[in-house]
This record gives sequence, C-alpha cells and structure tokens, in this order.
Amino acid sequence: ERIIGIMGAMTEEISGVINLLSEREERTAGMRTYYSGKLNGIKTVVVFSRWGKVAAATTVSTLILEFNITELIFTGVAGAIHTDLRIGDIVIAKRLVQHDMDARPIMNQFEIPLLGKTFFESQAEPLAIAAKAVAELLENRHLYAVIDQKDLEKFGIKNPKLFVGDVASGDKFFATSPDKRDLLAKLPTIVCVEMEGAAVAQVCYEYGIPLTVIRTISDVADEQSPIEFVSFIHEIASNYSVEIIKNIYSQY
Ligand code: ADE
Repeated sequence: ERIIGIMGAMTEEISGVINLLSEREERTAGMRTYYSGKLNGIKTVVVFSRWGKVAAATTVSTLILEFNITELIFTGVAGAIHTDLRIGDIVIAKRLVQHDMDARPIMNQFEIPLLGKTFFESQAEPLAIAAKAVAELLENRHLYAVIDQKDLEKFGIKNPKLFVGDVASGDKFFATSPDKRDLLAKLPTIVCVEMEGAAVAQVCYEYGIPLTVIRTISDVADEQSPIEFVSFIHEIASNYSVEIIKNIYSQY
C-alpha cells in the first residue's frame, strides 16, 4: 500500500499541510506529533521533525518503521549559496551531502563511513514529478494569489524560479559571507544549505525509500540571514509548502 510521508523541520513549514489532511488522526512519540490521514485519497503522514540532522534522522526512522511510509517528501526552507538564487526561489535536490561529515584522515572529507558514498542522489521519477509540479506552480502564478502583495514586495519576490541542484546539510545555520565562501570552496556544486535533507537522505537510502527534498530560499546565508529567515518563516513559508504539496499530489 502506498503511504506518503511529508516532513518539515518547523511547524511553520508544515502546519498548512497538516490542515489539508482529511480523516485526521494524531499520535505522539519521542516528542514528535505524527498526523495521519488522507490527502487526495492517498494515505499520508505529516510531521515536523525539529531542526538538525539527529532530529530529522530519528523522525524519518519513525515514519518508516512505525508508520510504514513507502516514499517521503521533505519540504522547507534553505539559505542560498548559488549567487543566482533569490528569496522565494525553489530548489529541488538532485543530490544531498552532509557538509559537516569529516572522518579524515580515515575517510575522505564528506564521505559517509561504511556507505562509501558522499552524495545521496534523488531518484529520477519522483524528481521529475516534483520538478513538473513546481514548474507549473511557478508558471500559473498561483503563489501570487495566496501570498500578501506586501509580503511579496517586502521580500522582493518577483519571478521565482526553480533550480534542480546539489544541497548541503549540516548542524549549522549559515550567517556569514566567509562561511558561505568556505563551503563553496569545498563543495563547488552546492546551490543551497539547510540542516536536515542529507540526514533524511541517508536513512531513506538505507531503507530503500524514495525521497524528494524541496526547499524554498528564505535567505541568502549571509549576515542578513537571521532576519530574513525569521520573517520568511513567519510570513510566507507555509504558503509555499501548501502550494508545492498540492501541486505534487495533483500529478499523482
Ligand atoms: N535554512 C534556512 N536558511 C538557512 C541558513 N542560512 N543556514 C542553514 N540552514 C538554513
């Protein structure tokens, strides 16, 4: 049976999605509340994991082992690393890497011990579905109908675009230009940073669960990022998650 998991790191990223569920039931375990129900007739479990790799990895393990999910969609925000990315753009992960994994000199930097892997690659099919859904969302300009005009102006969101690229995750909030430069020097293909995706990707890889990570740019990972991040989260993030999820489900 198909059971889709939907995860976000923060309530703000996922609260709107919880409200889309019909026949909703709640279960709390390990300080997380799992909301099960149906979305477009498909069994779905929605949860917010809290921040960071450990929080995300334990939550996805519970989704897999206790809720028997067969696939997972992660939706949330990220800090931009690629200079062409603007606040409000959407990134779908092509590959995910843990930028704080460093077992040198025993292993190569970023290599996950014993897996012999540095990057977790997204599967072609769910990636294509998500890319089509997000491209349609950005084309039909429906986001403009659900987000306040003043918020769009405040964040300078004009023609948000879709990027499919490499995402780096780790237990660090990027808030300085030098940190951003250092990351890019070490991992030149990275387009954005967040704190969960590659941890979730490792667990999904180990259990053979297809994963799609979709991130809206909330800040550009520099000195402005704490302020931009907090207001984006409060004002806009949930609208994005809801519209992205609705558009993905309409492809099923
Ligand atoms: N998620 C959103 N913005 C971020 C940043 N600047 N660093 C890490 N994770 C983020």
